[in-house]
Amino acid sequence: MSDNQEANSGGLFKRFAESMNRGAPMNPSDDRGRMKQVMDNLVLHLHPAKVAKPSIKFTYTWGLGGLALLLLVILVITGVMLMFVYTPDPEHAYQDMLNLKTDVWFGQFMRNLHHWSGNALVVVTLLHLLRVMYTGALSRPREFNWILGVSLLVLVVVANFTGYLLPWDQLAYWAVTVGVSLLQYVPLVGDELAYFILGGPEVGAATLTNFYGLHLAIVPLLIMGILSFHLFRARKDGFSIPRKIGEAQSERVERITTIPHLVSREFIFALAATAVLVVWAILIDAPLEEAADPNHSPNPAKAAWYFMGIQELLLHFHPIFAAIIMPAVGLTMLALLPYMEHTKDGEGVWFHSKHGRRLAVLGLITGFVGTTLLVIADEYYINLPEQLPSLPTIISNGWVPFAWTMAGLWLYWELLRGPLKAAISEARQSMFTLILTGFVVLTIIGVFFRGEGMALDWPW
Ligand code: HEM
Repeated sequence: MSDNQEANSGGLFKRFAESMNRGAPMNPSDDRGRMKQVMDNLVLHLHPAKVAKPSIKFTYTWGLGGLALLLLVILVITGVMLMFVYTPDPEHAYQDMLNLKTDVWFGQFMRNLHHWSGNALVVVTLLHLLRVMYTGALSRPREFNWILGVSLLVLVVVANFTGYLLPWDQLAYWAVTVGVSLLQYVPLVGDELAYFILGGPEVGAATLTNFYGLHLAIVPLLIMGILSFHLFRARKDGFSIPRKIGEAQSERVERITTIPHLVSREFIFALAATAVLVVWAILIDAPLEEAADPNHSPNPAKAAWYFMGIQELLLHFHPIFAAIIMPAVGLTMLALLPYMEHTKDGEGVWFHSKHGRRLAVLGLITGFVGTTLLVIADEYYINLPEQLPSLPTIISNGWVPFAWTMAGLWLYWELLRGPLKAAISEARQSMFTLILTGFVVLTIIGVFFRGEGMALDWPW
């Protein structure tokens, strides 16, 4: 057969399949075999050909990165569906939400699926970060991928927040009013920035258009761009290998082929996760309050749940510290965590060592008890602006409590590194646990324990 004849031989499908395989001849002779070869090729772009055997064992934290990916895919599909029936202007937006329930087939279900996947993504991304942190998978050579991950976490929150406004109900309107008001505390350009994002002096029709554009185009594009890089790096850097405490890094582990061992497990996991989400979306409706009323602010007006930690901080610190300096310092420290240490020692080992696990628990207890006591003390006993009347509030309620907080953290670090004999990776982990627990406690207090006028109150 001449070259020309050979190139033209076979059905259309064979040629199509070969073109996906960069023109290389497909080995299997039947269409099913060729399809499999194409799929395998696709899988091997995302995965290495072989993985360590311990990596495929199901554990409580298995597949969280993949789950985040699955949620993103569900969000895109359901988001596009919702787009067909949603008009981003205050006249129609709320009514469109009501119509989803009565006039659109599976409309409410699509909204529920979108809403719950969006919230689950914030939680799952955070859990994925915790898995990476506590198994030391952030160390060399994955430092930069950790930074990409931190950017993804921020973008996932921004995507969620920009979607929050779209139903145009009371919850949406006031949560966004509170959320954007935090921006006003950015030094020098705060007012201009808030005005730019709102499209005017307060939340209105222009804000809805801006948020719609951000939610539909800009933020998803940024997520897709950074995520592609993140996945590429995860593939190139090699997945970290789960190891038991005490197991040496040099110990060889058995490797097995990704196809079918890992892929089949991922498939089962994705099916199970989708099933759980679907049942959840059938049983529980996404919240919808009364239509937005700019003249009637609820008491208390609360931000979206993932910003409640910052809103709670605002009750204790000067706004520049609570809304800008502390979140900025926290995020920068988080991004730079992997650069504190160069060794890969303990990679893949939960909490690095037995001592590391004890120190992480210490961080958890200290963060929980310390933050709860400080919130109660500040609510009932401490009033720095009154107790230090000669100082401007940015010092009495800003620099002074900020310096105390930093001094407290520094003392904790010295305790870890000195008397408690923690290695840097163990100390970093314990410190991270303390700060994260503090933030989670602030969030829980803000969401459940703040009543009228944002006073401390029981939720029941
Ligand atoms: C939209 C959010 C995210 C998605 C979809 C995502 C997806 C993934 C996937 C699929 C993997 C490979 C499998 C795995 O280890 O689970 C991975 C690995 C990794 N991710 Fe993410 N990720 C996200 C956010 C983050 C965040 C917030 C961080 C940390 C700040 C992070 C840091 C890492 C690191 C260091 C690895 C390599 C882990 C290892 O080798 O064990 N990622 N990510």
